[in-house]
Amino acid sequence: MNKNVDDFIQDIDKMDTNLQIDKYMDTNQILLRRSPSKSMIKIITNEIDTFLFAGHDTTALAINWILYRLGTNLNKQIEIRDEIKTKLQNLESIEIKDLDQLPLLDQFIRECLRLHPPVPLIGREITEEFYIKEYTIPKGIMLYILIDEVQMNPEQFPQPMKFIPERFQSISSNQSYMPFSAGPRNCIGKRFASSLIKILLIKLLNKFRIDSNLYDGETSYNIVLKPKHKLKIKLTQLSIEKD
Ligand code: HEM
Repeated sequence: MNKNVDDFIQDIDKMDTNLQIDKYMDTNQILLRRSPSKSMIKIITNEIDTFLFAGHDTTALAINWILYRLGTNLNKQIEIRDEIKTKLQNLESIEIKDLDQLPLLDQFIRECLRLHPPVPLIGREITEEFYIKEYTIPKGIMLYILIDEVQMNPEQFPQPMKFIPERFQSISSNQSYMPFSAGPRNCIGKRFASSLIKILLIKLLNKFRIDSNLYDGETSYNIVLKPKHKLKIKLTQLSIEKD
């Protein structure tokens, strides 16, 4: 990604020597100053593709799984709704700092992302040989890290198949939990995604009761981890709820 952006900036430099490109300018700022060539448009399209794919499908899937889990854990749903009502005064203008006041909501989301990580595996090309215990990892191979398996480690997560949001009361961040990957190439959208998901859930839980059918457990594994068959989620306005 960085190489493409560097190429892009050099490309513009070559085309217009009068144009002053500051290395801190972003793509939009550069574009506002001139019309791009075809190769630039291709690079920009690739960047936009990465953002849309990396940010859109993943967040939508996470929301899908969280709504499903809320719909099948009605007691937790009530507790989280109460937490929101008690801790947040004004739901019309939620501020980022408000989102830190909701531990139950946070734990619930974390447990959903543990059991249903939207990105179940990541790959790295090994550029230098290294060792893990007695194993040699040779240069030149692709190494895949199965996030969904790592997050099922019973030493870190006792009864790993069970949905237990409270386990995150005591787990501080460690690299057994990595829905947004880890290290220098981890997800650049993770804070944005977490805030977006929380704000959406706050708004929904304030107005609707969420119900869901139990799903059959079948997943489809195609870059992102999806339920094979559609999850059925029903929203009922709280004011007209009958039971
Ligand atoms: C729940 C939502 C999301 C999940 C679970 C998620 C997960 C991930 C993971 C696991 C990676 C690392 C891939 C790797 O290590 O090879 C990643 C990278 C990335 N994510 Fe996200 N992501 C989410 C939301 C977003 C959003 C909202 C954006 C943008 C607005 C975004 C932009 C990116 C980008 C650009 C990368 C590549 C970073 C790089 O290679 O340096 N993601 N994401």
